[in-house]
Amino acid sequence: MTRTRLDAHIAALDAPEGLKTVLTVVAATCADISKVVAGGALSGALGASGQINVQDEEQKKLDVMTNDMLTDALLASPAVAGVASEEMDEVQPASNPAGDYLVLFDPLDGSSNIDINAPVGTIVSVLKSATATPTEADFMQPGRHQVAALYAVYGPQTMLVLTTGAGVKGFTLSNDGDWILTHDDIAISPDTREFAINMSNLRHWAEPVQTYVGDLLKGEEGPRAKNFNMRWVAAMVADVHRILMRGGVFLYPWDRREPNKPGKLRLMYEGNPMAFLVEQAGGKATTDGRQAILDVQPEHLHQRIPVALGSANEIDAYAGV
Ligand code: F6P
Repeated sequence: MTRTRLDAHIAALDAPEGLKTVLTVVAATCADISKVVAGGALSGALGASGQINVQDEEQKKLDVMTNDMLTDALLASPAVAGVASEEMDEVQPASNPAGDYLVLFDPLDGSSNIDINAPVGTIVSVLKSATATPTEADFMQPGRHQVAALYAVYGPQTMLVLTTGAGVKGFTLSNDGDWILTHDDIAISPDTREFAINMSNLRHWAEPVQTYVGDLLKGEEGPRAKNFNMRWVAAMVADVHRILMRGGVFLYPWDRREPNKPGKLRLMYEGNPMAFLVEQAGGKATTDGRQAILDVQPEHLHQRIPVALGSANEIDAYAGV
């Protein structure tokens, strides 16, 4: 059987050449990142970098290495007008006169998993730029404006999952370094018996979230009259990947510990690209069960949001509590 390679899929897309170039560069860099991740201690990739990022988080060595890899590759591409990263304070214009794409990324999602050899990933969002000399204001577009979103998950298999607005496709990295189409037309089942949330935060959640999760935990004997299972990989990429493969809901709600922060996850690097993929796979991606993440007007680059996404009927149930 002849399998479709990602480069052939990209070449056949009904999309501008510039977008095809961006996707090609990102896919090649993710394949390179997977080698560094897989090398672990042998790649000098474990442990802390000794630096603190704009989010006030301690950066891992791999956060810094992967951020540099993506930034360098994208800024060198003539199609790119500028990049923004969870790991960098400010947007980086590319100085490419013909560049008309903005690329936003979380170079290494779930970095607390690195040192324990658990899955991590890269998340990428692509927007059109109105100018070849973008400033932060040019990046402040709602997720609905994305022209592509993808993630790479570095787990037992390395996979790249992509949407350009016409469904979702999954490619597996072969031993020869090619991305091969293995998951055509990924669809999220509308119903589920599986949820993902960091339960240790239960006491900090708002009442409706506590009620919703409490009802799930009551199983067959409770108001939902069915048993639910729970999974939490602590890397959004891996948790969302599971939902794309077999359904489920992923929740990272607002909580009372830092009442002025709307949530933990970032709108531009995590919420928007994952929401685009989830909606394209037939699921729902919201802040609270109702408000679509893709319709949120960003106010600043590193903005955080609450996230509730996954199987459509279960997100409706979450909204209904
Ligand atoms: O980027 C933030 C992140 O690492 C996500 O990938 C993940 O879903 C979440 O944080 C894990 O949060 P916690 O530390 O509460 O388990």
